[in-house]
Amino acid sequence: MNTPKRYTVTAALPYTNGPIHIGHLAGVYVPADIYARYLRLTGKDVAYICGSDEHGVAIPMRAKKEGVSPQDIIDKYHGIIKQSFADFGISFDNYSRTSSKIHHETASEFFTKMYNDGGFIEEVSAQLYDAEANQFLADRFVVGTCPKCNFEESYGDQCENCGTSHNATDLINPKSAITGNIPTVKETKHWFLPLDKHEAFLREWVLEGHKKDWKPNVYGQVKSWVEDGLRPRAVTRDLDWGIPVPVEGAEGKVLYVWFDAPIGYISSTKEWAEREGKNWEDYWKKDDTKLVHFIGKDNIVFHCIIFPSMLKAHGDYILPENVPANEFLNLEGNKLSTSKNWAVWLHEYLEEFPNQQDVLRYTLTANAPETKDNDFTWKDFQTKNNSELVAIFGNFINRVVVLTNKYYTGIIPTPNNFTEVDEDVLAAVKEFPNIIAKSIERYRFREASQELMNLARLGNKYLADEEPWKVIKVDEERVKTIMFVALQISSALAILSEPFLPFTSKKLKGILNIDKNLSWEAISEKDVLVSEKHQINKAELLFSKIEDKTIEAQIAKLEATKIANEQENKVVEPQKDTIDFEDFTKLDIRIGTILEAEKVAKTKKLLKLKVDVGIDVRTIVSGIAESFSPEDIIGQQVSVLVNLAPRKIRGVESQGMILMTDTPDGKLAFVEPEKKVKNGQEVS
Ligand code: MF3
Ligand code: ZN
Repeated sequence: MNTPKRYTVTAALPYTNGPIHIGHLAGVYVPADIYARYLRLTGKDVAYICGSDEHGVAIPMRAKKEGVSPQDIIDKYHGIIKQSFADFGISFDNYSRTSSKIHHETASEFFTKMYNDGGFIEEVSAQLYDAEANQFLADRFVVGTCPKCNFEESYGDQCENCGTSHNATDLINPKSAITGNIPTVKETKHWFLPLDKHEAFLREWVLEGHKKDWKPNVYGQVKSWVEDGLRPRAVTRDLDWGIPVPVEGAEGKVLYVWFDAPIGYISSTKEWAEREGKNWEDYWKKDDTKLVHFIGKDNIVFHCIIFPSMLKAHGDYILPENVPANEFLNLEGNKLSTSKNWAVWLHEYLEEFPNQQDVLRYTLTANAPETKDNDFTWKDFQTKNNSELVAIFGNFINRVVVLTNKYYTGIIPTPNNFTEVDEDVLAAVKEFPNIIAKSIERYRFREASQELMNLARLGNKYLADEEPWKVIKVDEERVKTIMFVALQISSALAILSEPFLPFTSKKLKGILNIDKNLSWEAISEKDVLVSEKHQINKAELLFSKIEDKTIEAQIAKLEATKIANEQENKVVEPQKDTIDFEDFTKLDIRIGTILEAEKVAKTKKLLKLKVDVGIDVRTIVSGIAESFSPEDIIGQQVSVLVNLAPRKIRGVESQGMILMTDTPDGKLAFVEPEKKVKNGQEVS
């Protein structure tokens, strides 16, 4: 395409059934944000669009589980997600939601236009049905074996293992996710998007048209789907959560969430345009607009096959120029998972690392899963912070600002003649906007972030070589030139870091007291970014070292999650044989208080306790030494089976038994009254 006049940049609309974690940021929102910020800095007309995807089937399912309404769920998570994005500087021009009126209207109109144009096949067919739940089963309501890869927990519409998208009736051994029943089939009418009819278009547009410019992982997936043969896909569902199908005879039916959600990009653009006094159609219908979708790899089929076929069938719309989908990010070697709580949640990160959003943005970019799945580790996070952000970027800026204040009370000195080294460095700085821009425009954000760091490296090396702190003793005039050059590099860093490290960039611009509107191109075009006599401010730390103990705490937190998950997966012991009430009343269980505790010599597990059980004070040997140290349990109230026949344990007579339970972290816990009670109180 020729130079675009404007850009529509979309980021996948997140499902509102849980908060946002680092995988979302790394895969979609940070790269999209870098791209949008870069475009704005280079003076482009950009609409960066997102919003909440609120008709996902997981939403009513979660609502049912929590005993609340789907509306409660989406309101809660829409708020949390929107806040997380704002907190991390994700600079959407608009963040909408698909439950909004404007979206319901836009999606309904879209469907109606296609319907009137004969864009759907109407068909009564047998669909999976759960008679007990009185509900048709599609999408996440049904699980079964994937017909393509044999993964046993594929959903009705998509297999999370191989990414294939299919119809629920294609599943082998389907089971209802609501009741676990084997579904029956029942006839019902639906509208289908005849993807087979769009095959020629898709071949020409993607397979021929975007062979060179799309990422190989994206192109490859599309190619394999097209070659496997495209079949009609139902775009309506028998559900009560979603946008009602806007035609007669469709009562009780809603649009398939993957039909309405991408239209959310359009409705969100409308909402933005209305507010900003723009024309939304320019951003969706003009050929000189460049449309780019940022998504994760599980969304490829929807953005590269289904939605483009819809846009094409509708007729008035442009198609995406590129869909730079990322692979997945793992966490410490395991797949990120909302249900298993295997994640670093953004709101929790901010509590533990306040004001350190840029550290996470930088780590996720430098280690982005651009060409293959990648692993986030806390150790790596620490290294990226300590060895790059602190030791290179922060260190350089700090030296420049401190020395300028020290030598010249913060007023930029007048330089003398530049040496060859100075000239080379200044010339090298001018290249950076281009170098970084090239990487960004090819969606290589990792590479771009490394080039930014290289600019800081250049500055650091310049200072280390020129040693102004030494030269000041012998040649004050030379130091003026060195500091002048170093301040130019610092200013370039302040501008070029903006897409990657927006908070740092802002702070640095404040410290250097430079024009917030200095453009990306200015660095290449101007000889001087900050001139002599310009006053800068006092130094402030941009980054601070992250200590080992901070990282160890994060790793320990994940370890605890792992253990909790293992416990959760442990089968609960089956119930023992029934006993009579008479049998139960034979047990004499009392509340007592531990008065003394000591380890039983030569054992690992045993403590010898003196317990006041109200009736008397007795000796009890208990296998709890691995969970408690003796000094911590003095005064602890416990439940004691007092009429257990005394037994000798390791030579000590034990006169009863303390009741304990296992906790998820593999330790023991006392069964104790919620309030203090008197010793000897019966448990019944
Ligand atoms: N909610 C989907 C997901 O999280 C993405 C929807 S993208 C859109 O996988 F295009 F449909 F909006
Ligand atoms: Zn599969």
